[in-house]
Amino acid sequence: MRVLLTGGSGFIGSHIALLLLENGYDVLILDSFINSSSNVIKRIKIYLDSKDIKYKLETINGDIRDKKLLDSIFINSINENKPINIVIHLAGLKSVAESLIKPLNYWDVNVLGSLNLLLTMKEYECYSIVFSSSATIYGLCESLPIREDHKISPVNTYGKTKVAIENMLYDLYKSNKNLWKIISLRYFNPVGAHPSSMIGEDPIGIPNNLFPFLTQVAIGRQRMLQIYGDDWETNDGSGVRDYIHINDLAEGHLASLEYLNSKDSCLEFINLGSGHGYSVFQIIKQFEISTGCKIPFSIQSRRDGDIAKCYADISKAKRLLDWTPKRSLEQICLDGWNWQVNNPNGYS
Ligand code: NAD
Ligand code: UD1
Repeated sequence: MRVLLTGGSGFIGSHIALLLLENGYDVLILDSFINSSSNVIKRIKIYLDSKDIKYKLETINGDIRDKKLLDSIFINSINENKPINIVIHLAGLKSVAESLIKPLNYWDVNVLGSLNLLLTMKEYECYSIVFSSSATIYGLCESLPIREDHKISPVNTYGKTKVAIENMLYDLYKSNKNLWKIISLRYFNPVGAHPSSMIGEDPIGIPNNLFPFLTQVAIGRQRMLQIYGDDWETNDGSGVRDYIHINDLAEGHLASLEYLNSKDSCLEFINLGSGHGYSVFQIIKQFEISTGCKIPFSIQSRRDGDIAKCYADISKAKRLLDWTPKRSLEQICLDGWNWQVNNPNGYS
């Protein structure tokens, strides 16, 4: 089974790549490295070699908007008698704040890039895709836990591009219901790192998200955590989110591939989260208990665009994919901490 993994060098893609390779999949990574390091690929290979795992991994440095490149990837795969059976599509831009400043970049990379990819897949008769969508498409959470049939109402450009791609996938499936096999996974908050500390999250510049900021405070790379509001309508006043271990998320992709393989055609939109909501204060407390680090923090005003609570109903993923998240919040804290301590400057 040969998988084209776009964005395979990024935070989520690298964990999926490693898991697929461990499970005998032949993986072709396409990444422009605009938000990742080529050291990721080296680390994946070192890890697999250290475990004496034989693997088939190829990497192409390129852009999903480059149609000629995509054509050549599919043509070469066919000519070499190792056609791409399935695509896992993660390549894209993901910063909410940046998407509001540079909206056209987001429409270009995320939407046109995805359109390009789908056109090429259709041309070369590859009809199976797993797409990385986001919980951000739900916008303001009106009922908790959030089910897949919750209203779709994104409040930022990044979220709107994810909705546009989901709509494209929907139309494509409806155009020929016997042909396409499509799963759109709506991730909640993927955090933590591979337990080996060989791969993990390495944001460029100052992290926007809670977890990487917290681990950088823990090693002294950032001075203090700013908590964005202690006056939310939650148990302790801080924001509540659904944090899922990155390896649980990666396993959700493996389960998705198995599901697609068992079907003649399908279209499913599926939440991937832990199914639990934790507040910022709870995260800090668990992190301090798990690692023995003290996290200095100060309370700031609410961040624009934030909401009080958001966590997933994951019953559909459990039912359809026979998948369940296995790692605890303690494991998330430990793996995230070990990655940061062993790689204080990330991959550089
Ligand atoms: P990431 O930035 O670490 O990985 C994305 C990868 O795509 C990077 O390696 C980047 O270099 C590559 N890329 C970007 N533009 C490209 C292009 N035009 N052509 C080829 N490669 C390109 O992000 P991530 O956290 O691993 O997220 C992966 C996917 O999951 C993204 O689509 C993101 O929107 C989605 N997602 C992420 C989260 C999250 O919290 N991390 C949550 C929901 C959804
Ligand atoms: C952010 C994105 C969301 C994306 C998700 C996963 C925004 C507004 N939303 O969501 O679209 O799907 O990441 O990538 O950017 N917090 C602090 N201090 C910090 C950072 C965060 O207190 O330094 C709080 C936030 O207010 C929130 C929680 O921690 O309550 C989690 O924040 P974050 O990690 O940024 O994730 P989301 O807000 O869920």
